[in-house]
Order: sequence, then structure tokens, then C-alpha cells
Amino acid sequence: MNAQDGAKKADASRAATLIVNNKQMQMPVRSGTIGPDVVDVAKLYRDTGCFTYDPGFTSTANCSSKITYIDGEQGVLLYRGYPIEQLAQNSSMIETCYLLLNGELPSKADLDTFRTTITHHTMVHEQMTSFYSGFRRDAHPMAVMCGVVGAMAAFYHDSTNIHDPMHRKIASHRLIAKMPTIAAMAYKYSIGQPFIYPRNDLDYASNFLQMCFAVPCEPYVVNPIIARALDRIMILHADHEQNASTSTVRLAGSSGANPFACIAAGIASLWGPSHGGANEAVLNMLNEIGTVDKVPEFVKRVKDKNDNVLLMGFGHRVYKNYDPRAKIMQQTCHEILDLLGIKNEPLLKIAMELERIALHDEYFIEKKLYPNVDFYSGIVLRAIGFPVSMFTPLFAVSRTVGWIAQWKEMIEDPEQKIGRPRQLYIGPAQRDYVATTKR
Ligand code: ACO
Repeated sequence: MNAQDGAKKADASRAATLIVNNKQMQMPVRSGTIGPDVVDVAKLYRDTGCFTYDPGFTSTANCSSKITYIDGEQGVLLYRGYPIEQLAQNSSMIETCYLLLNGELPSKADLDTFRTTITHHTMVHEQMTSFYSGFRRDAHPMAVMCGVVGAMAAFYHDSTNIHDPMHRKIASHRLIAKMPTIAAMAYKYSIGQPFIYPRNDLDYASNFLQMCFAVPCEPYVVNPIIARALDRIMILHADHEQNASTSTVRLAGSSGANPFACIAAGIASLWGPSHGGANEAVLNMLNEIGTVDKVPEFVKRVKDKNDNVLLMGFGHRVYKNYDPRAKIMQQTCHEILDLLGIKNEPLLKIAMELERIALHDEYFIEKKLYPNVDFYSGIVLRAIGFPVSMFTPLFAVSRTVGWIAQWKEMIEDPEQKIGRPRQLYIGPAQRDYVATTKR
């Protein structure tokens, strides 16, 4: 039995004992491959009549998973056991997609086949293009993506039988392949330019760049260094275990909903500024600060509880150390700005000063607030040419593989049931209806 097989087995010798409502119960303690143990409370209600209470799931594991591991104290992130630093350095987004979906790095032949499969699924049904004209031109691309991705179920219903492994596989490939096309079309629509079809001779990131930035009237040459940087950004965002959007995808999928609907739900959750919307919020914040000399004043506002200002791009539910993705993103940021000859980018200077002050300030040290992946990604994406409104859609494109791998894992996990949290009811106790004349 390998360590992963052992991960789901309860360890009877380390059962946790709980006494509640004068009832005593033993709860199994389960160990994973690495990381904290979990106390299995599944029978708590049956045996004691009590629920656990954990808003925000700060101490609750909702599933067992073999996909991604984070050690927030040490700043470690592993995809299928491989450190993010090694993947960002040596892998490609398409290989990382294979790894996340299938659990192992592909052989050369498997990688070629997978690349060909994804490449040949990149076009969307032509009729889907008419969906876009139903949106206002100034609609946020995330709003457009929620709608268009949800609509995929209406176009690709030959891959919506979640009980059929082949349907699940095809839906996964379609989502990974078409999401860049859908996001690029949302961008083109917002600026009034014609949609650009995918090109099968380009890699995943290069194809996305050309769908966003090419125009039909002149050739578009992809800058390989920018394409490599974008590919790396995609790898960094590809999965992040049970975050809000992934948990949303799992919860939506737990009812048996089709994968396109589930991913649309994930996009909606990602949009929030506490999650994927933070990269957009960081750039807005840097613009609002305006100049380096205003940084101390801004930090003062962040520390003032009455001011309700957050340092966007800082802090994380799990990382209580430097987010390993932020380190790679910072390095990528410098590389891209050097390449493009914009070393003196004022927003980068503000970001570096903010980071310097925050990393030495007692408020942030005490709360273990470090830069997260979003702190530098906006600066890089803006330098590449993406408008702020495309930052979160790009995150959605990158995270699609994580969402779909987690959805697939859930469907294939015999332990999973429909997600149905309980509550601590604090509303009125039962009372009788009163006629309007007597109120
Ligand atoms: N700036 C200032 N103070 C902060 C920040 C911040 N960015 N983040 C947390 N704090 C403070 C909180 O006010 C709280 O203080 P208190 O203990 O005095 O009340 C304390 O640190 C703990 O913060 P919580 O909000 O309880 O931590 P939680 O784990 O719930 O939140 C979150 C994590 C949502 C990421 C938060 O840090 C935040 O809002 N950060 C800014 C938004 C952001 O960058 N999000 C991207 C996350 S990464 C991603 O999704 C890709």
C-alpha cells in the first residue's frame, strides 16, 4: 500500500474523544500523505445531536484530494507532489494541465497527443459568437464569461453525462481548450474589434496572446519571451487546492450539475475582490496611491481599523509566509519590465515600496501578512498589454484546469455526497401567523 492509498484510512489508535451533551464519542483521526491530520466528524450529529460550527471553513477539510498541497507556514505549493518553483521553471502550461488532470507527468508521446487534443478543441461553436452581441460593450469580461461558459452546456450536451468517464474527459478538454478563446472574445468584444480565431500552430499562451492582440489587417508576431512569461503566470494560477472558487465548483458539482455549469459557478466566485478579483484591485490601489511618497500615508490608512482599507495583494487564508507564487511573479515582473524597457514603471516602484514597508511593519508582521500571487501579477499583465478588466479573466483561464481536475476527482470519489452544510439557527423560534389587521 503506498502513502496515498493510506491517506484515507482512519487511524483507530489516535481517535479523538469528545464529550458533549453528556455523550462521549470517539472520532477517527485521519492522516494524509503530508500536512495536518483531520478529525473525522462525519458521525458527530448522529451520535451526539451536535453540529460543528466553522464559518469560512477555517478548520474544516471538505474532501480528501491528491491534486495540490499547500504548506502555508513554510510557503510550499506542490502540484501532484512537484514544487511550483520547478514547474514554473521547467514545465509548460499544457504539461501542467496534463499533470493536474492525470496525476503524473506525461511521456513525450502522451504530451504530444494531449497538446494536439487541446489544440483541436480551441474553436467555439460558431453560433456562440452571437451570444456576445447580447452583452453591452462595457460589460465586465468576467460577466460575459459567466454567461458564455454557462451556455456551453447548451452547445456541448454530448459531454454533459457526468457518469460517463469519456464525457468527463471530453468536457475537461473542451473547457481547457475553449476558455482562452472565450476570454479573448470577451476582450475583443469590449474594444469593438473582430474576434480572432485560434491558431493551431501556436502553443497555449502564444495562441491566447494572438487571439487578444492580433487584428485581421496585419500579421501578428508573438514575442516568445512574453509568451513564456504568460505561460509561467498560467502555471502559477493553475490550481490552489480548496479555495473559494474551487470549493464552489465542487459544491455545484456535488448535486450532479454538468461541468460547464460548475465552471461558470467557479468563475462567479473567482470574480470577488477577496479572491481572483484582487489582481484588478491591486492595480487600482497602486493607481490610487499614485506616487511613492504617498505610500506611508496609505499604509497608515490600512492600519487604521476605522478606515476600512486593505492592502490588496497582501494576506492569504492559508499562507502565513511568503506566497511562493509571489516570489516567482516578482522575478517575472522584473524580467518583463526589463525586456520591455520600462524598468522605471512608477507602479512597480510603488509596489516595491509598499512591500518593503509592509514586510518591516509590526502590524503586518504580527498578522503574518505577506504578498500573495496577485501583488505583482497585475503589473506584469499590464506591461504585456492587458487592460485591468482582463486580469481576472486571465486568472479564470489559468484556473480552469484546477477546477476541472478537482471536479473530476470529486465525481470519481466514492466518499463524496451532495454538499449540504448545516447551520446554527438564531432566528425566531416557532410562532403563530398574525393577520395584518392585528399587527
Ligand atoms: N490588509 C490589511 N489587513 C489585512 C489584510 C490586508 N490585505 N488581510 C488581512 N488583514 C488583517 C485583517 O483585518 C485581520 O485583522 P484583525 O485580526 O485585527 O481583525 C487579520 O489580518 C486576519 O485577516 P482575515 O481577514 O481574518 O483573514 P482571512 O484569512 O479571512 O482573509 C484574505 C484572507 C481574504 C485573502 C485577506 O487577507 C484579504 O482580504 N486580502 C486582500 C485581498 C487579496 O489580496 N486577495 C487575494 C487572495 S489570493 C487569491 O485569491 C489568489
